[in-house]
Amino acid sequence: MKFSKRIDQLNEGIFAKLLEIKREKLARGEQVIDLSVGSPNIAPARHILDALCAAAADERNYTYAISDLPELLEAVSKWYKNRYGVDLDPKTEICSLMGSQEGFPLISMTVVDEGDLVLIPDPCYPIFADGPRMAGAKLYYMPQKRENGYIVNLKDIPEDIARLAKLMIVSYPNNPTTAVAPDEFYHELIAFAKEYDIIVLHDNAYSDLVFDNKRGGSFLAYPGAKDVGVEFNSLSKTYGIAGARIGFCVGNKEVVSRLKMLKSNLDYGMFIPIQKAAIAAITGDQSCVSRTREAYEIRRNILCDGFNSIGWHMKKPEATMFVWAPIPPKYEKSIDFAMDMLNRAGVMVTPGSAFGPSGEGHVRIALVQDIEDIKKAIEAVKRSGILD
Ligand SMILES: Cc1ncc(COP(=O)(O)O)c(C=O)c1O
Repeated sequence: MKFSKRIDQLNEGIFAKLLEIKREKLARGEQVIDLSVGSPNIAPARHILDALCAAAADERNYTYAISDLPELLEAVSKWYKNRYGVDLDPKTEICSLMGSQEGFPLISMTVVDEGDLVLIPDPCYPIFADGPRMAGAKLYYMPQKRENGYIVNLKDIPEDIARLAKLMIVSYPNNPTTAVAPDEFYHELIAFAKEYDIIVLHDNAYSDLVFDNKRGGSFLAYPGAKDVGVEFNSLSKTYGIAGARIGFCVGNKEVVSRLKMLKSNLDYGMFIPIQKAAIAAITGDQSCVSRTREAYEIRRNILCDGFNSIGWHMKKPEATMFVWAPIPPKYEKSIDFAMDMLNRAGVMVTPGSAFGPSGEGHVRIALVQDIEDIKKAIEAVKRSGILD
């Protein structure tokens, strides 16, 4: 059998290796506290579940959806207006995604041809690299360095690279670094994209997980943003419904129309009960969003204060559901530290190198366990002696 280069370049990588060790440990009856994958454990609000259940009980909802329900498009438009102050035309500027994850390869397929250049942040959430790669793109990594607050420095991008690039992916609040970009960054980004004719994709999965009474926004709220690109948004983390796979691509109508065209040839639309659940989530009582944010904030405080108190120094993140922690000085590689954490403390974190070359030297800790388990993890790391 002969397979494509496209599939050969993807690999399960470190996550599969860590999972294998986790399973072995669990089979031996040992405890593992998993702080690796960002899969939320906060239950969805009742009204979202009720909408989903009622729609799932209606036999008329089992036909192909074909496209987004007009009431879903209206709901997204109102949500963007109320939540971010952004106007979106329901008919032309919104397209649902079955999770924003699928949007990365799909949008890449609409923008790049084999060998075209895509700019991606480094470190980054893995699909930012794999999505364009699946579409045949070449990648240029834009480092997110500690000395620049983990924000991409557009001035560091060589002129010839900028001229060649067709698509650029950026995302703040950032996974894995947790950085939040200042207003100036977005103004510069829009000017840069206009100058070099690059389509911008801003991934905005964590705008509602911004802490310390600050409020996250939208790329599209900046003047000129809609001229140069689109934003992905996701209900996964905000509403605790990652498994329902609900995301959106919103913004520039040229980009949105091509994505819709591609999707209309690929899938027959999002399952109608899921569309109804999405409407319930974004139009219903939003107090569940504040409760989720508070839960992550409390976990962040307990985890960071706890690890700092036992000598592992890390900054409290301003946003997201992650902590981006430097590895202790005696370690050179994040994979070695992550393996010791798992093997000796039974605590699973993700090595920074899994997010790209500039991720080395850090691990990502996901705030996906309850307070009691976070406290247990801190105790286990202390007892293991790996910080000594
Ligand atoms: C930055 C970022 N973008 C996108 C996603 C994918 O979200 P979805 O569940 O909507 O596919 C994640 C999930 O962890 C993420 O961290």
